[in-house]
Amino acid sequence: MTSVNQPLPKHALDDEYPTKTSALQRETEDILQAHVAQGAPTLDRSAHLQFLIRNLVQGFPARYISQDASQPWLMYWTLQSFSVLQVAVDPVNKQRAIDTIMAWQHPDGGFAGGSGQAAHLLPTYASICSLAIVGRPGPGGGWDQIDREKLYKLFMSLKQPDGSFIVSEHGEVDVRGIYCLLVSAYLVDILTPELIEDTAAFIASCQTYEGGFASASHPYYAAQEDKNTPLQCISSPRPNLGEAHGGYTYCALAAWVLLKPFLPEEGAPSIDVKRLLRWAVNMQGSETEVGGFRGRTNKLIDGCYSWWGGGEFALLEALGVSGHREHAPLRPQHEAGPTEEWVGSDDSVFNRDAMQRFILLTAQHPAGGLRDKPPKHPDAYHTLYCLAGLSVAQHRVTQSPARRSELRSAWTPKPEIKYDMVRKTAFTEALCWSEEEGSSIIIGPASNRVNASHPLFNLTMTHSEGIMAHFYKQTLPKRFVRAPPKVA
Ligand code: FPP
Ligand code: ZN
Repeated sequence: MTSVNQPLPKHALDDEYPTKTSALQRETEDILQAHVAQGAPTLDRSAHLQFLIRNLVQGFPARYISQDASQPWLMYWTLQSFSVLQVAVDPVNKQRAIDTIMAWQHPDGGFAGGSGQAAHLLPTYASICSLAIVGRPGPGGGWDQIDREKLYKLFMSLKQPDGSFIVSEHGEVDVRGIYCLLVSAYLVDILTPELIEDTAAFIASCQTYEGGFASASHPYYAAQEDKNTPLQCISSPRPNLGEAHGGYTYCALAAWVLLKPFLPEEGAPSIDVKRLLRWAVNMQGSETEVGGFRGRTNKLIDGCYSWWGGGEFALLEALGVSGHREHAPLRPQHEAGPTEEWVGSDDSVFNRDAMQRFILLTAQHPAGGLRDKPPKHPDAYHTLYCLAGLSVAQHRVTQSPARRSELRSAWTPKPEIKYDMVRKTAFTEALCWSEEEGSSIIIGPASNRVNASHPLFNLTMTHSEGIMAHFYKQTLPKRFVRAPPKVA
């Protein structure tokens, strides 16, 4: 055993059988460690803001042409990056953004990846979240121009007999789409028992032997007596499709947390939370990888999993897992034993200090924007998910029982609207998250502090509250109202 004072081995242990993969792993570790040795862990806020402003105001560089069907995502990644950096968009650019987003609304409901394209669950989430950031009630404000009836019809038309959803007409089933649908339905108040019937069972069926979740699972149907008998999905066999992955796991787990308040007390489907926790903690890279997260077993770490992987721990806490190390299985440390620094300054199940150092020292591009890892270029997607990852490492956001009961007592029933109890549950469960006082950890200067993100939506708390209070027709208790951020 190496003592904590001995130097860290440069490379993670492997089986000493060189392959292209093991060479790339070693090369990556060398590059990461060189960045750690050179830099200071300071968030270059102004370079990132310039990167974001350039994209929002002047438009994206030509190489983004391949993202023509992801225009709402480019908008969301950019706007939410501003929010994480605690910067509000000025009124003129807000209005430009609202008008652009509304042009993506499909005449038959939902939002498309671009004007004239087909409605799809993923851009629907990105558009609605973007509107949560820049929109407002009233004419031209976006919120009241969302066609919620058509949106609901679209969602129901995409529903499959096994409780899953296809992402678009003739599209595939994928847990990312289900996450996007559930967040959209929560935010604009269109959740119903019919919409989510059997969806939790489908999510549960995507958990793999590793503990994480795959993109989907394969349905089998009972033999039909005749063509007119409705298709009946059988619960077994139900093989999951593909390997556990951080992106799918975040989506499946968030979907599960969104569905959990509506599960029946008896006979509900279940997931293996212990196995999931074990998998999730093991996705954080070792000290030789500076504590970044990987998306799947034996792959390279990547800055975007700071959110998809690091974001899973708050959700696990909502399922009753203690976020504190003494109650949870420890991640296996490097065989040489952890150095003092690697242990981290608190007792969280993942190393919050290391993840911040990974983002600050390796994922920031010197010219602004954040990236997968050096020497890659920055892009809009990695900029958001690295910043959001920095946010989950800095802030510990959990569901507060006190806040939950305060919201429940303040609820104003609207008997004229169907499913008042469902609405009340969705509203209170979504908005009872708050940052545990005294639990933030900021690596580097105090100016590195970024905004906390809602663990389920990846919006700020303020934006989540604003849009939900509007659609649920509720007034939030006074002490919930926070000061607005400064304008860019
Ligand atoms: C593998 O890419 C990536 C996937 C299989 C999909 C990942 C899914 C997400 C990131 C979630 C997205 C969420 C929403 C809401 C749309 P790769 O092989 O290039 O990367 P890897 O080597 O890191 O696995
Ligand atoms: Zn990535």
